[in-house]
Amino acid sequence: MCGIIGITQNNSEDLMEKLYQSLKRLEYRGYDSVGFAVLSQESIKISKNKGKVDEVAKQTDFSLMKGTTGIGHSRWATHGAPTKENAHPHTDCQNKIAVIHNGIISNFLQLRKELTQKGHIFTSETDTEVVPHLLEDLLQQGKSMKEALFELATILGGAYALVVIHTSEPNKIYCMKKENPLILGVTKDESYAASDIPAFLPYTREAITLRDDELATLEPGKYMIYNVKTGKTVSRKPHRITWTPDAAQKGGYPHFMLKEIHESGQVLRTQLASEISNVEQIAQAILDADNIITMAAGTAFYASLTTQYLFQQTFGKIVIPTIASEYETVLPIINKNTVVVAVSQSGETIDTIKAVKEAKQKGAKIIAIVNVVGSTITRIADHIVYIQAGPEIGVAATKTYLAQVFAIWRIYHQALLKTNQTTLAQQLQKAIQNIPDEIERIVRNDEAKARDIAKKIQNAQSAFYLGRGINLTTALEGALKLKEISYIHAEAYPAGESKHGPIALIHKNYPIIFIAPNDNTREKIIGNIMEMKARGAYTIGIIEKHDQELKQILHQYFEINPQYSKQLQNIPYQIPLHLIAYYTATTKGHDPDYPRNLAKSVTVE
Ligand code: AGP
Repeated sequence: MCGIIGITQNNSEDLMEKLYQSLKRLEYRGYDSVGFAVLSQESIKISKNKGKVDEVAKQTDFSLMKGTTGIGHSRWATHGAPTKENAHPHTDCQNKIAVIHNGIISNFLQLRKELTQKGHIFTSETDTEVVPHLLEDLLQQGKSMKEALFELATILGGAYALVVIHTSEPNKIYCMKKENPLILGVTKDESYAASDIPAFLPYTREAITLRDDELATLEPGKYMIYNVKTGKTVSRKPHRITWTPDAAQKGGYPHFMLKEIHESGQVLRTQLASEISNVEQIAQAILDADNIITMAAGTAFYASLTTQYLFQQTFGKIVIPTIASEYETVLPIINKNTVVVAVSQSGETIDTIKAVKEAKQKGAKIIAIVNVVGSTITRIADHIVYIQAGPEIGVAATKTYLAQVFAIWRIYHQALLKTNQTTLAQQLQKAIQNIPDEIERIVRNDEAKARDIAKKIQNAQSAFYLGRGINLTTALEGALKLKEISYIHAEAYPAGESKHGPIALIHKNYPIIFIAPNDNTREKIIGNIMEMKARGAYTIGIIEKHDQELKQILHQYFEINPQYSKQLQNIPYQIPLHLIAYYTATTKGHDPDYPRNLAKSVTVE
């Protein structure tokens, strides 16, 4: 995700200040590099660099960027590391067109090749930069900017929210969108375009939502909307925004964490929209390795366990999950035939960085599964798998955990194809395609029940999360979530092991969550449930839909589509646990976004 703002107004005094303040309010959407462009005396003035909004604004002399029309962008890198050259806005060869973009242009490599052959000079690694050069070509053919954008819509693949300014029209902004958000704002003599409402909320509450395949032209206090396919104008009146600026940053949700849980389905859809680059080589490297070691911390470590369950069980590979800070224990067995799967949302966790560096020294091949483009771990890795989850503001990982697990399943799918296990691969591919919808169904259907269970367990002193096999990853992640935001001690345990001691803790109403899909662990889990229930435990199950036997014996349950009982199960089965943790924290009056003692990225040992 990126933060986008465009403003055109009659007053030339406060334009840069408003662009800056608007980007500040969008910083949660991405902040690795920032840029501004202002139309001023027939030219475009640009200031951009790597860094956060405040840093780049400080380097910018606002007095030199006077004008009535301008654009601003805070980047969340997807193609090309965070650098000054890759920061938006991007321009054409003559610096007459400036463009900012949120999204991914899927056919940019081919377009870039064709434009380069025509003599266009590129200065960045981004997908976005093809846009100003394409517009330059189209304008040189005598088209108006509007006509050029209509044609551009037939050329670009992928998803985009574009905002464009051009020196020949100093009081005009063009916006066009497909899949990525663009909202317009208007007053009697100002017009705004932004990727999200918080950008312009202090200036106007009158908003117009641009829809897919629509183009908008903005002039001070005026806007026109066109359908890019028919060219016809679209009449759409503003609607009034009632949110507070703070609520608006969270898209109307009370906390970023809840917003990010609700985003989870879309995050997997976004990841699925782009191939995992070099996925064949990555899968082959794992299949060829003498041993595979996963290195990660916290939630990322639990995600990394998926590698063991999948590659050990199906391919007989030796997979050793290693908590990053314990890497010395495995160092002696690392050699040039070792593959390390390093998982890290931030790519900056010092424990994981140190472990990966040592493994690399010993000759291991490093595969990094990361969210932040250009982060430290990506610069050490031999292969990088970006999980495309967008910025995660809540300190507790939710959507990024699911995206990490999803990436590992997709690599596993590639390994099935490479070993000609086509039936398994076809079944998995169907589940992969459908899982975003299933996640959204669970969030929609089960949020209220999670809130009720939270009320029931809020005063518990501790809780158990029990699972077997791959479902133990779900239990481990679910227990961590409850611990880190509700401050209730929660322990995940292999269900079979719970009778070797932990069962001594059980008393009346002791909450226990069982991960119980209809896979090869179900029969034994039933025994565990009965043992715990006999001792007074309050039993909650995450079970396969319509599992009547389990519905009979559990106090509470969440039902998951049967398609996910034996594949991808540690993704949908996690959703109710994220919701229970969130609502337990808020019921106890804690702020789930900023839990005590925690940091989003632990960069100290
Ligand atoms: C998870 O909710 C926590 N925020 C924490 O355990 C986190 O997963 C861990 O610090 C690893 O962070 P990383 O994924 O950025 O490496």
